[in-house]
Amino acid sequence: MQRLGILLSGRGSNFMAIAEAIREGRLPGTEIAVVLSNLPDAAGLETARKLGLPAIAIPSAGRKRAEHDAEMIATLRAHRVDLVCLAGYMRIISPEFVRAFSNRILNIHPALLPAFPGLDAQAQALEFGAKVAGCTVHFVDEAVDHGAIILQRVVPVLDQDTAETLSARILDQEHIAYTEAIARVLSGQYSLVGRRYVRRGKE
Ligand code: GAR
Repeated sequence: MQRLGILLSGRGSNFMAIAEAIREGRLPGTEIAVVLSNLPDAAGLETARKLGLPAIAIPSAGRKRAEHDAEMIATLRAHRVDLVCLAGYMRIISPEFVRAFSNRILNIHPALLPAFPGLDAQAQALEFGAKVAGCTVHFVDEAVDHGAIILQRVVPVLDQDTAETLSARILDQEHIAYTEAIARVLSGQYSLVGRRYVRRGKE
């Protein structure tokens, strides 16, 4: 079994999409080992508990990043996690955390990176006047929203869009993208060539 550790700070719809994919057999040989949040009242933690999954809050408020991350790393190791999935985890992780799970941490970002990194990516795209938007699943490196891109999915930006309608259109694609990216990474059928994620066995 390949064991996922999910990190979230909010409602957890990406987490739910991953859990649903596992339940439906779309990620064979994969299970969620633990769901962690830096915010004790994150709705995603409650959802995880309802699904019978280990769900643990490790509050970050008022704590040094290194100290908090050390506890996160220890908890992930205690649950024998193979792949860490940041799913709306709204906290920058330390270089020590990145090195502890080298090329074993994925993130999903609601923009076509390298455009619109950081917060409120969907509103940034709308205000900039972009005509396409989307989401990116990437490996996490020591810079924010920066590591090698595994896959992206694109949506149109419509004239009548608000940040909410655009976010909802992107979110639908996020739920497809994350499961697909996890399957690809867990298959091991890829190489990293510099920044480039290259699938093996594909023309
Ligand atoms: C998602 O849109 C995700 O892409 C975004 O937070 C949302 C979490 O939603 N992440 C970031 O902006 C990270 N920079 P969810 O809790 O329903 O999965």
